[in-house]
Amino acid sequence: MSKFYVSPITGKPLKKKGNWYISDSGSESFPIINSIPRFCSKSNYSESFGYQWNKFDITQLDSINKINLSEKRFYQSTNWDPKLISKENVLEVGSGAGRFTEVFLKTTKGTLHSIDYSNAVEANFKNNNKFNERLKLSQASIYEMPFLDNTFDKVFCLGVIQHTPSFEKSIESLIKKAKIGGEIVIDFYPIKGWYTKIHSKYILRPLTKKLTHKLLYKLISSNINWMIKLFDFLCLINLKILTRFIPIADLSIFPENLTSSQRKKWAIMDTFDMFSPEFDNPMRIDKVKKLFTKFCCEVTFAGYVKNNPNAFGAVIRAIKSY
Ligand SMILES: C[S@@+](CC[C@H](N)C(=O)[O-])C[C@H]1O[C@@H](n2cnc3c(N)ncnc32)[C@H](O)[C@@H]1O
Repeated sequence: MSKFYVSPITGKPLKKKGNWYISDSGSESFPIINSIPRFCSKSNYSESFGYQWNKFDITQLDSINKINLSEKRFYQSTNWDPKLISKENVLEVGSGAGRFTEVFLKTTKGTLHSIDYSNAVEANFKNNNKFNERLKLSQASIYEMPFLDNTFDKVFCLGVIQHTPSFEKSIESLIKKAKIGGEIVIDFYPIKGWYTKIHSKYILRPLTKKLTHKLLYKLISSNINWMIKLFDFLCLINLKILTRFIPIADLSIFPENLTSSQRKKWAIMDTFDMFSPEFDNPMRIDKVKKLFTKFCCEVTFAGYVKNNPNAFGAVIRAIKSY
């Protein structure tokens, strides 16, 4: 287990002194704010996620919704055994409000290192701090993680990589932190065909991501009712194909047992998630598979996994070979 953080810049070990992590020479220091070590600047491209996950901090938690949606996605994507991962060094990258953090901590006895680049870490801390010593949460970027290379038996990164500036660099960074023989699992937005980007998201996002988070949130929440009605109507008359032109998230992949107010909340959240990120780069599964091979991994699975009765995720599982 990596007991201590290292400087994400020089790799030098850091020691905790009061509300700081400091290098031996004292030349590098990283603050602990609200009990969370911070290894990146407060202001960065992922701020929309900080806004989103602090506003919708509990919306997608299995424990709140009394469903096991995130648990299913976690285990179906990773194919991991909760008993085995209880004894391993595991790293989560891009934890958001911590729905998968919760799954890991609830279903295993293990310790989890978890990072996110945005201040969504505050929401995750609030949600999962009850697991106390088993959660090692910090704010850091996938490109500058406060861990030595070759540290983790398992690394997972779900729903994140399409939102980073470089798919290739992100994969390389994840692989670096895994031990030789360690496993990396990601899921991501796939390019399914020529039609993938013919979608209101890709048409409007260049504009909507420039709006202030507050204004975008207001625009979405004040228009959500008619958009839900139109979406449902098009599905009812077998014209689901046209729903891609309504500026709303895909409601057909939501769990069916949500109440109408939960469904509305999820719709606002996922629509904000669709229009606010700085980056949204879907990728072809075969291309992502090649990237893992390029960075010395053996790909053990590359394809679609059924996350819930209505949704499939594009997943890669890979073992670091050398
Ligand atoms: C769509 S959210 C997914 C969060 C969580 N995995 C989930 O599925 O609920 C994407 C997350 O990736 C994080 N992220 C984006 N770029 C990152 C980076 N360079 N390093 C670490 N996290 C990053 C964002 O802050 C955001 O919380």
